[in-house]
Amino acid sequence: MSGISILGLEGTAWNLSAAIVDEDDVIVENTATYKPPTGGIHPREAAQHHAAHIADVIRKTMENGNKIDAVAFSQGPGLGPCLRTVATAARALSLSLDVPLIGVNHCIAHIEVGIWKTRARDPVTLYVSGANSQVLAYRAGHYRVFGETLDIGIGNALDKFARSAGLSHPGGPKVEELAKQSTQYIKLPYTVKGMDFSFSGLATAAQEASRKYPLPDVCSSFQETAFAMLVEVTERAVAHTGKKEVLLGGGVGANSRLREMLEIMCEERGVEFYVPEKRFMGDNGAMIAHLGLLMYKSGYSTRVSESKVNPNYRPDEAIVTWR
Ligand code: ATP
Ligand code: FE2
Repeated sequence: MSGISILGLEGTAWNLSAAIVDEDDVIVENTATYKPPTGGIHPREAAQHHAAHIADVIRKTMENGNKIDAVAFSQGPGLGPCLRTVATAARALSLSLDVPLIGVNHCIAHIEVGIWKTRARDPVTLYVSGANSQVLAYRAGHYRVFGETLDIGIGNALDKFARSAGLSHPGGPKVEELAKQSTQYIKLPYTVKGMDFSFSGLATAAQEASRKYPLPDVCSSFQETAFAMLVEVTERAVAHTGKKEVLLGGGVGANSRLREMLEIMCEERGVEFYVPEKRFMGDNGAMIAHLGLLMYKSGYSTRVSESKVNPNYRPDEAIVTWR
């Protein structure tokens, strides 16, 4: 291992993850995932899960005695109780190792790890996860949000609809599988307002449609409608910014139909389309460590007195010091 290496802690939602990265690669990563017995995520229970496992996850990550130059953690956005648990561990670790603390924006970490792991340089990013759905691009010192969901994230909309149709959590992959058997398109609400989109009405309409139509058809129509909305806004952001690259990130980015639709749009516009390996798409500690490394190299650190978590931390609030 050479040069700088950073320990990163992620725990905004289900996934608790710690990783050490250097400038070349991920050295080590360990993860413990919270799985609720039934239904959706309960913030306090997820936080208890993180509290119970964090010492072990950190211990395993540090057991090879790798050098650590700073401790980075997700300062937000995310579930308050989960964020606070992980931030407490990060502060303690930074004090005991006597190295700087670096609070990072979780959404920007998704973008930067994607840039690191693909050949993208300055993309328009579509970040689609359970709780988040945003179209972002860098301009003049900030990652700007060009479009975003006005209510729930696409992943949560898929999960909500899937649960109502009796499919197990997480619903996204099951909806994708069933959609392959579809034979007809059912019209569902397509909601794009300006550059923003919304999924809550679509999830409700799909729930109602599943009482009348075969489930594969509803699954496929849900995907076609929601993904068309996302691709439309991404395309308009590309047109507006004049950027030549599109990057996909977040857990929903695993969906092959979404990838196919983005690929077609990119080909038609003559821009490059980038998708990182699956392990860097969902929430992971390596992305937090990597963004921490970029921030560390730019001279940034977070004072303990300023390290309070922010469940609504917007990516456009963060000052980009490393570009
Ligand atoms: P956050 O929103 O804080 O970034 P998260 O834990 O909600 O984190 P991810 O791990 O990025 O999000 O993604 C989980 C979501 O991805 C779930 O809603 C799941 O249904 C969805 N998902 C996973 N695979 C697929 C797929 N093949 N097609 C569609 N959705 C998928
Ligand atoms: Fe995420």
